[in-house]
Amino acid sequence: MLLKNKTIVVGVTGGIAAYKALELTSKLIKSGADVKVVMTKSATEFVRPLSFQSLSKKPVAVDTFDEPNTWEIRHISLAKSADVFTIVPCTANVIGKIASGIADDMLTTTVMATKAPVLIAPAMNTNMFENPIVQNNIEKLKSYGYEFVMPTEGRLACGDTGQGKLSDINSIFDKIVCLALSKNTDLKNKNIVISAGATIEKIDPVRYITNHSTGKMGFALARAAYQRGANVTLVAGSNRCNKINGVNQIDIESAEEMKTAVMTASKNADIIIMSAAVADFKPNSFSDEKIKKSGADHITLELTRNPDILKELGEKHGGTKTIIGFAMETQNLIENAQKKCAEKKVDFIVANNLRTEGAGFGTDTNVASIVSQDGSTIKLPKMSKLELADIILDKALECSKNCKIL
Ligand code: C5P
Repeated sequence: MLLKNKTIVVGVTGGIAAYKALELTSKLIKSGADVKVVMTKSATEFVRPLSFQSLSKKPVAVDTFDEPNTWEIRHISLAKSADVFTIVPCTANVIGKIASGIADDMLTTTVMATKAPVLIAPAMNTNMFENPIVQNNIEKLKSYGYEFVMPTEGRLACGDTGQGKLSDINSIFDKIVCLALSKNTDLKNKNIVISAGATIEKIDPVRYITNHSTGKMGFALARAAYQRGANVTLVAGSNRCNKINGVNQIDIESAEEMKTAVMTASKNADIIIMSAAVADFKPNSFSDEKIKKSGADHITLELTRNPDILKELGEKHGGTKTIIGFAMETQNLIENAQKKCAEKKVDFIVANNLRTEGAGFGTDTNVASIVSQDGSTIKLPKMSKLELADIILDKALECSKNCKIL
């Protein structure tokens, strides 16, 4: 349970996105957090407190004078109990009040009294968001250390299109986790490059060669590294994952493009993790025009080797940077991984067998073994890709302490 023993105070203000705070509350509860909800009066016009109460199993605070039957002063006890205080969604009005030191209801009073990190997720009409007064208020709050998950662009409830849409709940959740576990920022100041997903090798303008990788393992690594404070560059091939707010994602298609992006990003990296499923071969040539059937029963597609990015990384940075590879096999898993580790000069290989139940493409779990250069092997049980990501990062951090400084 990621957020066990953590108290998250969720402030909800009066915007159309208020209902999305229900999803966030549910996600936080499922992660083991103790969630306490504070709503402004206008928020209760959009969503009833009972909905939050049912999810959090706790009374919802709305009015400063509506004190419960305890001797504690409620806004102070709420403010003190928070490990993270988040306001989702946050209106221009509440941003303005906090920035001006106005505390005239339960939410603004509590936020003023807290010493916990405050994370604000604004959501409003584009014109309101772009208004220099709102922008100045945001800048002012940032200068005081308030954290923001900025709204995204999209079609807004009012019919306008532009920036103002509440950021997606997963990104807000990730940032809360990051703040709540901020004591565990053991990867702070580490530059980590991760590759993820499948490469695409074009045959003609219509067809291409790819594989079944969905990018889940690489994105889990990027998310976990970001949550632990790292500066993450994610070189992403074809994938079925959502972008992670705070992670620098570079989208590529072919193995050659991946090589260029990974090699460039690796110059400043401390740790490099190649979890992408890179095509070993690409078509000999790319046809500018669609290849016609022309009545043929057979055609031959000639393929040529792609660069082995991991091997080149090993040759260039082995021993000075921590380098990790993946190996997906259908047989002789450990032997093949040991060979790969030596050939590619990497610190360790995360090996998984495609045929093992709970491992492989598109699953949320993995069953892996960590095979190190010194010959040792750790066989891990089935676990979520996010849990495995943390174990890989623990081991990577341990290896990086032994790297030579140039
Ligand atoms: O040799 P094999 O392809 O099995 O090794 C897998 C590892 O090598 C993975 O970490 C993968 O990301 C990387 N790789 C690479 N360039 C290739 C093929 C694989 O970097 N052309």
